[in-house]
Amino acid sequence: MSDETLSNLLKEERRFEPPAQIAAAANLTAEAYDRAAADPQAFWAEQAERLDWDRRWDRVLDWDDAPFAKWFVGGRLNAAYNCVDRHVAAGRGDKVALHWVGEPLDDTRDITYAELQDEVCRAANALTDLGVRTGDRVAIYLPMIPEAVVAMLACARIGAPHTVVFGGFSADALASRLEDCQAKVVVTSDGGYRRGSASALKPAVDDARAKTAAGGHPVEKVLVVRRTGQEVAWDDAVDVWWHDAVGGASTEHTPESFDAEHPLYVMYTSGTTGKPKGILHTTGGYLVGSSYTHWAVFDLKPDTDVYWCSADIGWVTGHSYVVYGPLANGATQVMYEGTPDSPERGRWWQIIQDYKVSIFYTAPTAIRSFMKQGREIPDGFDMSSLRILGSVGEPINPEAYIWYRHVIGGDRTPVIDTWWQTETGAIMISPLPGVTAGKPGSAMTAIPGVSSEVVNDEGEPVPNGSGGYLVLTSPWPAMLRTIWGDDQRYKDTYWSRFAKQGYYFAGDGAKKDEDGDIWVLGRVDDVMNVSGHRLSTTEIESALVSHPKVAEAAVVGAKDEDTGQAVCAFVILREDAGDGGDDIVAELRQHVRKEIGPIATPRQIMIVPELPKTRSGKIMRRLLRDVAERREVGDVTTLADSSVMDLISAKQDEGRTEE
Ligand code: WTA
Repeated sequence: MSDETLSNLLKEERRFEPPAQIAAAANLTAEAYDRAAADPQAFWAEQAERLDWDRRWDRVLDWDDAPFAKWFVGGRLNAAYNCVDRHVAAGRGDKVALHWVGEPLDDTRDITYAELQDEVCRAANALTDLGVRTGDRVAIYLPMIPEAVVAMLACARIGAPHTVVFGGFSADALASRLEDCQAKVVVTSDGGYRRGSASALKPAVDDARAKTAAGGHPVEKVLVVRRTGQEVAWDDAVDVWWHDAVGGASTEHTPESFDAEHPLYVMYTSGTTGKPKGILHTTGGYLVGSSYTHWAVFDLKPDTDVYWCSADIGWVTGHSYVVYGPLANGATQVMYEGTPDSPERGRWWQIIQDYKVSIFYTAPTAIRSFMKQGREIPDGFDMSSLRILGSVGEPINPEAYIWYRHVIGGDRTPVIDTWWQTETGAIMISPLPGVTAGKPGSAMTAIPGVSSEVVNDEGEPVPNGSGGYLVLTSPWPAMLRTIWGDDQRYKDTYWSRFAKQGYYFAGDGAKKDEDGDIWVLGRVDDVMNVSGHRLSTTEIESALVSHPKVAEAAVVGAKDEDTGQAVCAFVILREDAGDGGDDIVAELRQHVRKEIGPIATPRQIMIVPELPKTRSGKIMRRLLRDVAERREVGDVTTLADSSVMDLISAKQDEGRTEE
């Protein structure tokens, strides 16, 4: 974001007071900020009371071995019991947990809490029969179908940490995750529906399985849901149909209680190196954090609200705000399998109208694409049921915020811009719908219980009106516990930068405005944010360099009107590859899709003779970003050879593909 845009933003004068009706009945009110600040541990203990514990904790927080935290020490609970059984036990078994909507029209399924309990118990029994024991890892590679939720909860129920891999990731990306966490079982499906057609998933699992066998940690069983009915290759020694194994299992299953610090899941996310980080979340603190924030930030009224979060369960938002938060709170929610524009462009609004959705949570990139299509489409639907709108994944620009509030929310609905990360497990910075006067473009302040700051290089808070690094200044229950198998990387990545102060370094830049409210600006490291998805520049560079024709590659995230940022690659070919051939750009794009997945496909690939490097050989991405964003190239004086930029700039219009 340029300084000029930023100062325009900070002059934003529009304010939206909380609607009187929401303020009057809000779950959390202004007094919570002071109360939480006065005694954070007492505040978190109070939030932990929202859950059912088999054994109460002895101590709220053990931070003696910082940055390795233990929350609710000595406490024992079962996450699946908390998300399902306890609602049934309380007489709410007939309440709908999931209004599932498949992409093909009229392919819908309502699942009550009692039905969900039966399914989760069956799946827990089936996984146990397949040899899964407490502590074993289970990978889940599924489309947005109810079985995805059931599989996650079944794993939680038997204490087998799950790792959900987004269905859009390639076989290679899946294999590296399976290998890193040494998954014993994979749950997948024949395929799923996207944009009107059935797309296969099982072949990627077969490929990935072959790769992990070579790595010495073979996957033992693959549990396959039949979703599309397409042909699948079958290995009788490994593959098992879900409808046989789960369908035939008993609905009786006694949940065991686990230590509050028992691993719940590993979620892989891009970091600044080529190797994705396995973010580890544990049971008690994570469930406290996700359920508290879902209740407080969305002001959930479980008896009357219909909630819908459009995130895929392959991302952390799907974990915290489709599965654990809403279900722990006994919410009724919509879950949708497909894309927003299939079979027609009003599909989302149709769903909101049909199910009378009252709380809706999505990403700015989706809002911007709807803005482009024009308001006539949403205007054709009755969305008067909506009372709260949420946004996540990237900064929401004021224009998109206003459109969302006005066109989708009919100006009745607060827009809640929620900042958080895979690592934080739950929302950290956000307005509260019944308390905060919203400012378009600002995530406002840390929610009660959380403490954040914007600091300079020395770790000192910057004054209002200035920018710096976003940090969290004290531990919180849903925080990551480590990077799977790599405690050192955990310390280095998040805790070394401001070790003296003991701050968590989020990797984002932010400004505090004159009122001290926070404007998150985006990553300050080599991480990109494309359509709200985190991608690592180095990971894409390694993918490019693994192509036989490529000698060197540099990747930057360039500003993009639709996707926030887009991947732009600068590639030097090997001498023996000549000019690479006519289709070199298409060939390299295809290669990245295969190595990582379609979300990482570069918008532009420029074949260049040189890359701009400092005398010490460091690539100056800042200059490449200037080219990719078609700006005048900045200061080149630190380059070893300043004429390089002329050669590169001449290529700025090449290799661009609009998809
Ligand atoms: C960005 C997604 C501005 C940020 C929940 C963060 C945001 C990264 C916002 C985490 C927001 C997320 N405003 N930026 N409201 N929400 N981000 O791990 O750069 O996929 O560090 O978690 O997304 O992405 P992740």
